[in-house]
Amino acid sequence: MKAMKFFSACLFLLPFVSCTQVATNKGDAATEKRVEALLSKMTLEEKIGQMNQISSYGNIEDMSSLIKKGEVGSILNEIDPVRINALQRVAIEESRLGIPLLMARDVIHGFKTIFPIPLGQAASFNPQVAKDGARVAAIEASSVGIRWTFAPMIDIARDPRWGRIAEGCGEDTYLTSVMGAAMVEGFQGDSLNNPTSIAACPKHFVGYGAAEGGRDYNSTFIPERRLRNVYLPPFEAATKAGAATFMTSFNDNDGVPSTGNTFILKDVLRGEWGFDGLVVTDWASASEMISHGFAADPKEAAMKAVNAGVDMEMVSYTFVKELPELVKEGKVKESTIDEAVRNILRIKYRLGLFDNPYVDEKLSSTVMYAPSHLEAAKQAAVESAILLKNDKGILPLQSSVKTVAVVGPMANAPYEQLGTWVFDGEKNRTQTPLNAIKEMVGDKLQVIYEPGLAYSREKNPAGVAKAASAASRADVILAFVGEESILSGEAHCLADLDLQGDQKALIAALAKTGKPVVTVVMAGRPLTIGKEVEESAAVLYSFHPGTMGGPALADLLWGKAVPSGKTPVTFPKMVGQIPVYYAHNNTGRPATRNEVLLNDIAVEAGQTSLGCTSFYMDAGFDPLFPFGYGLSYTTFKYSNVKLSSAALKKNEVLTVTFDLENTGKYEGTEVAQLYVQDKVGSVTRPVKELKRFARVTLKPGEKKSVSFELPISELAFWNIDMAKVVEPGDFALWVASDSQSGENVFFKVID
Ligand code: GLC
Repeated sequence: MKAMKFFSACLFLLPFVSCTQVATNKGDAATEKRVEALLSKMTLEEKIGQMNQISSYGNIEDMSSLIKKGEVGSILNEIDPVRINALQRVAIEESRLGIPLLMARDVIHGFKTIFPIPLGQAASFNPQVAKDGARVAAIEASSVGIRWTFAPMIDIARDPRWGRIAEGCGEDTYLTSVMGAAMVEGFQGDSLNNPTSIAACPKHFVGYGAAEGGRDYNSTFIPERRLRNVYLPPFEAATKAGAATFMTSFNDNDGVPSTGNTFILKDVLRGEWGFDGLVVTDWASASEMISHGFAADPKEAAMKAVNAGVDMEMVSYTFVKELPELVKEGKVKESTIDEAVRNILRIKYRLGLFDNPYVDEKLSSTVMYAPSHLEAAKQAAVESAILLKNDKGILPLQSSVKTVAVVGPMANAPYEQLGTWVFDGEKNRTQTPLNAIKEMVGDKLQVIYEPGLAYSREKNPAGVAKAASAASRADVILAFVGEESILSGEAHCLADLDLQGDQKALIAALAKTGKPVVTVVMAGRPLTIGKEVEESAAVLYSFHPGTMGGPALADLLWGKAVPSGKTPVTFPKMVGQIPVYYAHNNTGRPATRNEVLLNDIAVEAGQTSLGCTSFYMDAGFDPLFPFGYGLSYTTFKYSNVKLSSAALKKNEVLTVTFDLENTGKYEGTEVAQLYVQDKVGSVTRPVKELKRFARVTLKPGEKKSVSFELPISELAFWNIDMAKVVEPGDFALWVASDSQSGENVFFKVID
């Protein structure tokens, strides 16, 4: 309902905007005709020029000479509509064939109106939140002339040391597939040639999130079966959603850099999925194949990238410099160049750039921060927040609370709150928790503000003491902690996930006051906050919530909204548990979860006395919080789980129905989750996998019958023979509130 309200509200904004399904006009004969006609006129140099993307620099004159020569197909990082039109005019009026430029920008979770980081949006388990956010981003970015974004980032990430976990949708293949497809639809709107549509670019293809050790750009070692069962499906879903472009990833997988990987770029992307858009490298990832030791020099790098199926090179210029000679030498066929240029021209035609290349230079002043955009961003922040603890129902704050202390480095941090990958958001438009709380409570409550620390990494014992002293006067302490935005994102990896600086000391000092501490964490990743959770009466986790994070959190703290977010990624107790994720294999000696832990082990314990199972003596087996976990101010009861059949054929559909009851005293929304386990396979299978989820809103005492439809075909996996099949046998199924709870029921798949 909210989403429709949002769209109906914005309809007056732009006559073109629409919210029906995405549809790129694949296989449009008229477009293909135009592509072929133009291609036939192009010289080899002009073709290669289309394959070159530069990053905007200096003045227009600097770039104009390249554009006039036909050496530039796309420009990234130019966001001034006047300059964009001027550059476009050079391309159209002063180059021989007048081919328009494709203007690109990283619009990852908003252009001016910043939404929660994608990991936060994933926590909403609401694809409409992702779609609305992408639509707003497209409306704002296209209003300055940007028509291509390098998003959604849909790398499966199971290692929170990796800074870019912030940028994706977490650890789960199904959740990422659903959210990623929704973002593609939001960016691209109902048709690419709608002027408010921007070409999506699922990235980073593929496996980048499995960087060894969680260290960015590091090698990955993903065997094909795991690639196909875990890492590829979100990209296939994005292709089906009509994604117009793809971006290759920096990593080498089993020794082959993605930018030179024919198997993924041709066999899978084009051959199996029928993708007909354009593939761009990541920043200089073509020339970085030299650093990888996969190419001896720029010439070999260009040859390997183009022959593997890359269409456009981002900024490293090896194509323009090396391809003419490579073609002359026969090391790259001109037909390969032609195919790359077809893909590029096809997207430019689909975007309507040939017919409508310029942007209205006054438009952007009318769309940025539109009320409907801010409302959508606030709703996203509300639904993204995860309630991890709420002892004695301290939340929502009651009218008996007359004095609150607002403490911590993230309480009034307008820049940090926006999170990573924000180039165009403006911190002076951020509404912080401190300001939102003051605005909400007015003079009804006394608000004591004492940050204690100026920023998340600060070490300042005196500041901690001062904050604790001030907070001791309050009825409830609201502690806003977490990460500065620079601490997550590209190349921003951490080997230690504890709260930075003196934040741990701050929480401990606040807890010592004896007053209840409500800890609100704003971060770009899961943090190892076990001790702080123990010291807090309540914990609300908000992955960098964006422009409207303050009002969203204020509404949640005072019960104007009820938390509904769920963890999109497992929270480890300590870094040593990583990788830790719910869809793991069982192993031959699974943990019993009753193992004797470190401090309880007898001195001189016998060698085999502890049993032999897969766990850590110091951390046990279970994480701090499992995937899919999140509390509400109310409680929910699952019951009466029924299956449409106990035995089904591969072409049938299993209907799962269950009752969900709100057994508490607040209206709330539960993200009901459906997990399935293939008990025995030709290869070992995960102990469970998410297959469906649904947000169900219930009034106190209300009970609803909910159902999931699950085609048995969706239980297919790549098996011992590397065939994607459903194998008959026994299956277990859970309908639950998270990946660790719920009663399982059983069904069979029969031949
Ligand atoms: C960066 C990122 C990629 C981004 C590109 C352009 O290095 O890896 O995600 O889209 O360069 O900024």
